[in-house]
Amino acid sequence: MQSFSTRIDIPAEKRASVIALLNQQLADSFDLFSQIKQAHWNVKGPHFIALHELFDKLAEEVEDSIDEIAERATALGGLAQGTARQAASASRLPEYPATLATGRDHVGALSDRFAALVKTTRAAIDASAALGDAGTSDLFTGIVRELDKALWFLEAHLQSA
Ligand SMILES: [Fe+2]
Repeated sequence: MQSFSTRIDIPAEKRASVIALLNQQLADSFDLFSQIKQAHWNVKGPHFIALHELFDKLAEEVEDSIDEIAERATALGGLAQGTARQAASASRLPEYPATLATGRDHVGALSDRFAALVKTTRAAIDASAALGDAGTSDLFTGIVRELDKALWFLEAHLQSA
């Protein structure tokens, strides 16, 4: 993959591994972003306005993290692979179901996908630390805290006391 010279003191081969890790999380996050918007647009039912607004807020948070992940890849001398087509071909998330309508269906589908991203992001914290990049590890740590919170907001709709 294309890379650029930089004075950053992380060895080139380790930087390349971190950049690949960042691009993988970028693809998954971009895919999730578009899926949340899909839910935002198509949700129906008595809780429409609450879920419509919640999904938009969650999409905005994921969009913010996408920007940070992509810019970390370029800061490390890498090429951010952030087009919709790149994300679609590299994402590990399943495609969003086409036939969902109820709020519960959408909350369930999004919860599954947030849970998948939470898991890989938490793994990326350790993987980037092991590569000697505390900066990227810290970035993923902040992101996983947001994702954990988003998953709570979603799952609270499915849980009852
Ligand atoms: Fe909207």
